[in-house]
Amino acid sequence: MPGVWQNRVRDVVEETRRAADSGIRAILLFGLPEFKDAIGSASWDPSGPVQSAIEAIKRAAPQMTVMADVCLCEYTDHGHCGVIADNDVDNDATLPLLAKQSVSFANAGADFVAPSDMMDGRIGAIRRALDDAHKPEVGIMAYSAKYASGFYGPFRDAAESAPQFGDRRSYQMDPANVREAMREIELDIEEGADMIMVKPALSYLDVIRAARERFELPLAAYNVSGEYAMVKAAAERGWIDGTRVMGEILTSIKRAGADLIITYFAVDFASNLA
Ligand code: PBG
Ligand code: ZN
Repeated sequence: MPGVWQNRVRDVVEETRRAADSGIRAILLFGLPEFKDAIGSASWDPSGPVQSAIEAIKRAAPQMTVMADVCLCEYTDHGHCGVIADNDVDNDATLPLLAKQSVSFANAGADFVAPSDMMDGRIGAIRRALDDAHKPEVGIMAYSAKYASGFYGPFRDAAESAPQFGDRRSYQMDPANVREAMREIELDIEEGADMIMVKPALSYLDVIRAARERFELPLAAYNVSGEYAMVKAAAERGWIDGTRVMGEILTSIKRAGADLIITYFAVDFASNLA
């Protein structure tokens, strides 16, 4: 995907400085381990890529808010967001592993963990684990309303995390359903989320608006890889003015009610504002 690549830990520090210089105040990290297994055990390795990146960033740019994505799919050989039992994702067996990963990121210095797995009950499990590990100050940004979407394609290529069998429809949400999104958000808030999220953003602006009207917590919207790639591809062909369209898209997400926007455009957009 144009403008998107896997970084080595030392390059992440450089990227973070660039982001900070453009006025960005928070970043979200994803990790690719050296080996994958059935339970994603590389994700709680204290010297794993995300843990190392958090430590390096906190040393180089302590004022940057560092968030770490929590999920198993980048770390499992089958590519699912949870562990597998009888050819299906086992929700409850996954929770302690997500908790372990979260505590490991917290110990490395993450300010927020951001669970993107969509297992039921994970926010509560992670909150309890963080508190038990004496990390009550580490926040949770919950991917609360995450739809099963074709817009994640470029990310899965970059993260080498496409499921090796089946799909994610048993744990991610049906694109046609908005009331389920409200229910999922409500549950995450009850379980202790500090921020909630709607993902993807652009085809779900109505869901962002509905969440904004109903809930008080800071609301994040994730402008995902496929949304970014469409703009880049069309701009590259000269079919649209990429900079102008970027501005319109991010404005629409803000207008819909997002407090935070997670976007691959971040540095581009912030530099254009300056
Ligand atoms: C992992 C995860 C995904 C994204 C963020 N975290 C992929 C997926 O659920 O398949 C997508 C991000 C993007 O497309 O930019 N669960
Ligand atoms: Zn996942």
